[in-house]
Amino acid sequence: MKNLLVSGGAGFIGVNFIRYLLEESNFEGRVINVDKLTYAGNPESLSDIEANYSDRYVFVKADIVDKDRLSVIFDKYEIDGICHFAAESHVDRSIASPDEFIRTNIIGTYNLLELSRQRGGRIRLFHHISTDEVFGSLDKEEYFTEETSYKPNSPYSASKASSDHLVRSYYKTYDLPVTISNCSNNYGPFQFPEKLIPLMILNAIQDRALPVYGDGLNVRDWLYVRDHCTAIWTIMKKGRIGETYNIGGKSEMENTKVVEMICDYLDVIIGKRPNREKRRSLISFVTDRPGHDRRYAIDSNKITSQLGWMPLESFETGLLKTIKWYLANEQWVNSVQSGEYLNWIKQHYG
Ligand code: NAD
Ligand code: DAU
Repeated sequence: MKNLLVSGGAGFIGVNFIRYLLEESNFEGRVINVDKLTYAGNPESLSDIEANYSDRYVFVKADIVDKDRLSVIFDKYEIDGICHFAAESHVDRSIASPDEFIRTNIIGTYNLLELSRQRGGRIRLFHHISTDEVFGSLDKEEYFTEETSYKPNSPYSASKASSDHLVRSYYKTYDLPVTISNCSNNYGPFQFPEKLIPLMILNAIQDRALPVYGDGLNVRDWLYVRDHCTAIWTIMKKGRIGETYNIGGKSEMENTKVVEMICDYLDVIIGKRPNREKRRSLISFVTDRPGHDRRYAIDSNKITSQLGWMPLESFETGLLKTIKWYLANEQWVNSVQSGEYLNWIKQHYG
């Protein structure tokens, strides 16, 4: 692929993926980052990439729901590959207001597929990034495999399930060369502080309450974002067309335990709270999320045995790196928390 369209490349995983692609992988082509810049998109996170890779990196502010605009982008940049991250990604927002999830996640994905189909054999690969949430909730001892049936429980996961089905249908019906990955919960640098881990890290640093939903015993299977990026690139290089691959970190953890670990690490790194209590005293159990999935856990045997991918970080090493990143990147944190990044976007992109 010479001209890879990365949709949603200004979001958390997209930023990390573009960094990985240009700085670390053997990809030699050009990245065209197409992002609408919702509240979750922050191109400031890539300003050094924009400066250092001006010949191989282009940013285009555009909405994937706008098919005509997308069509012009496909032709102008001679797009021959797609890695599709763009989505509304936060479950709580989908519960409060599902509209944008339906538009972006379903219609936006359809637009990218349809424009790819219209370009015949020019598109060499359409890789679709999806989530383990499409499979619903697990009891103890079970794991999501590529054969698990879809049972999405939130408007977010239902919209992602729809997009997965559309992608599959374009392979089956039109022979569009697609691959799909369904990944577990990511964490790491540049994550917007509405998601559990960055929210808890920043609240704990700033001596604010740590709101844990329900009984705090829900389980997520955590994956350090760089490991997700290496998995995606492995699939894009070596995956079989038409196949789906599950990606997980083998790091199942109850939410309360995650929050306690963050508190304990911070007590050691920056000392206890101003009132000298341990940070765990900030934990407060709050009303549960409606339809809250109890447990996610991924069986990633397929990608490991067939493509040789393995995660490098344990939850402990990844979490420590993440905490240190948020402590070291005060300017990014301030810009995001104050909303200053939105002014930056207005100045640069109108
Ligand atoms: P994010 O919310 O941080 O970023 C989403 C990006 O998409 C933002 O830059 C946003 O501006 C952009 N976007 C939103 N609507 C758009 C539109 N209509 N047109 C163009 N761009 C638009 O999300 P993330 O956490 O980086 O997730 C990226 C992808 O990975 C999503 O598809 C998500 O479903 C999937 N995923 C996320 C996780 C996770 O733990 N975060 C796990 C598995 C899969
Ligand atoms: O599994 C992959 C999914 O992981 C992705 O597809 C989603 O885009 C991503 O947002 C994430 O979904 P979750 O709902 O699992 O992530 P979130 O960080 O919102 O919540 C993680 C767990 O922590 C969940 O059980 C809810 C709980 N939680 C979350 C927040 C924000 C709390 O207890 N308190 C909170 O304040």
